[in-house]
Amino acid sequence: MDVSAAPIVITGAARGLGLEMARTLASAGARIGLIDLDPAALAEAHARLPGSGHAYAAANVADEDAVIAAFDLLEGELGGIRGLVNNAGITRDGLLVKVRDGKVEGRMSVEQWRSVIDVDLTGVFLCGREAATRMIGAGIGDDAGAGAGDDTGGVIVNIASISRHGNFGQSNYAAAKAGVVAMTVTWAKELARHGIRVASISPGFVATEMVRQMPEKAIDRINAQIPLGRLGLPEEIASTVRFIFDNDFVTGRDFAVDGGLRL
Ligand code: NAI
Repeated sequence: MDVSAAPIVITGAARGLGLEMARTLASAGARIGLIDLDPAALAEAHARLPGSGHAYAAANVADEDAVIAAFDLLEGELGGIRGLVNNAGITRDGLLVKVRDGKVEGRMSVEQWRSVIDVDLTGVFLCGREAATRMIGAGIGDDAGAGAGDDTGGVIVNIASISRHGNFGQSNYAAAKAGVVAMTVTWAKELARHGIRVASISPGFVATEMVRQMPEKAIDRINAQIPLGRLGLPEEIASTVRFIFDNDFVTGRDFAVDGGLRL
């Protein structure tokens, strides 16, 4: 897909990886619809984006009504939706069962489980459903399969994680991210006939707020395990998003961008 002037929605775009993706795609000429929880951070991110024609909507991606309202608003302001990056995500780490001296001291609460499933899995489902509905409604991909070029009805990129195959202390997050990769494959199969491509990215540890919140010792331990010996940069994830948009033969695949780390 030619991203120049394409209207692309990015969730969790007020900071971190989402903001870097917004900058990268806006620099290539795309018009970005930013979604995030935090209206003040959103307004600031919007004001600082390169280029013009961007829009934003405050919404919780886990709230069906709020997601529909946000997509209505952004579709109107951007004049359609051709791309979506499902990036919003949270962690609420904890052991399934925490044991000390042979005694169970704590357990992952249902609230802890649900909060991550709601945002990281249901949020991706809700935004993907809204975007696909509007891409199909626009009818741009009706000649899908006719050949390479601008018959692309749309592109959806889901942000999963290196934790997708399971990670210590992350029952909720790992399950949600595994679900995101499975939905990616499912949507690629279902939506190809409408000219919509779907792929996911599984970043390793990247230097954003989410990772900086971790104790310094934990970050040192992680760096020591990464074959490339360092955290990823937000630009390295954003350039992978750009690659997926650009390459019209990519769909139904997950791209690991993790410095070679295997959990
Ligand atoms: P971050 O915490 O820096 O930014 C996340 C953004 O999403 C924030 O602006 C936040 O307000 C927004 N957000 C959170 N919950 C939301 C909700 N319910 N509705 C709308 N917006 C919401 O996180 P970061 O590091 O930029 O991560 C982005 C994505 O990349 C997440 O899906 C995360 O799981 C994934 N990821 C990050 C890695 C890392 O090392 N930073 C590694 C692997 C995956």
